[in-house]
Amino acid sequence: MQLDLSALPAREAHAWMISTILPRPIAWVSTVSPDGRPNLAPFSYFQAVSARPPLLMFVAANTRDGRPKDTLRNLREVPEFIVHLVPFDQAEAMNATAAPLPYGESEFAHAGVSAVPAARVRPLRVAAAPVAFECAVERVLAFGEGPGAANVVFGRILLTHVREDVLGPDGRPDPARLDLVGRLGGEAYARTREIFTVARPDGAP
Ligand SMILES: Cc1cc2nc3c(=O)[nH]c(=O)nc-3n(C[C@H](O)[C@H](O)[C@H](O)COP(=O)(O)O)c2cc1C
Repeated sequence: MQLDLSALPAREAHAWMISTILPRPIAWVSTVSPDGRPNLAPFSYFQAVSARPPLLMFVAANTRDGRPKDTLRNLREVPEFIVHLVPFDQAEAMNATAAPLPYGESEFAHAGVSAVPAARVRPLRVAAAPVAFECAVERVLAFGEGPGAANVVFGRILLTHVREDVLGPDGRPDPARLDLVGRLGGEAYARTREIFTVARPDGAP
């Protein structure tokens, strides 16, 4: 079959995007309002961008009625955020923070997520996350308008937290110890349990 995503209603096109481009890592993003009210939400349109400068990105789509999500609203006023990676034992809590709470109501409190202060930015850090990236907004690129339009947030990583118990014998994070979840289509998720290696071609960087 072939599909013309641009001819489908936005929600239908979205369903095809998320059920084909997978598994997607999840950025659990902490922000704060100008008056200090914390916000936490998951975003699976998320990727690493570059090591020099150290950049990552995630996409905060507009809401179904075309408004910016609270995360984006906060980033426009306080351009700092923290991306946390989500292990299996935090999957339920992460999902609970996707609840559409009124602006200013804390998903930390709503989902019972413990927070600690960050070192270099104002938003709170999720205490139970094995990896966290404290970021400053580098740029926000908007694509489209209205419901479903994309706001691509590029963040410069200022400080990375890695819990030592996820490190392997080579001193780098061990995927099995991280036990991160990835988002699939619908309400499905994957775990990084079945791991295999493939030798790189000779001369590949
Ligand atoms: C696993 C997961 C991944 C999600 N990924 C995205 C995403 O990439 N972009 C997006 O706009 N919303 C995504 N959402 C929905 C947002 O988390 C949800 O709209 C949330 O209420 C936004 O919070 P905020 O208004 O506090 O920013 C995702 C939800 C879940 C559970």
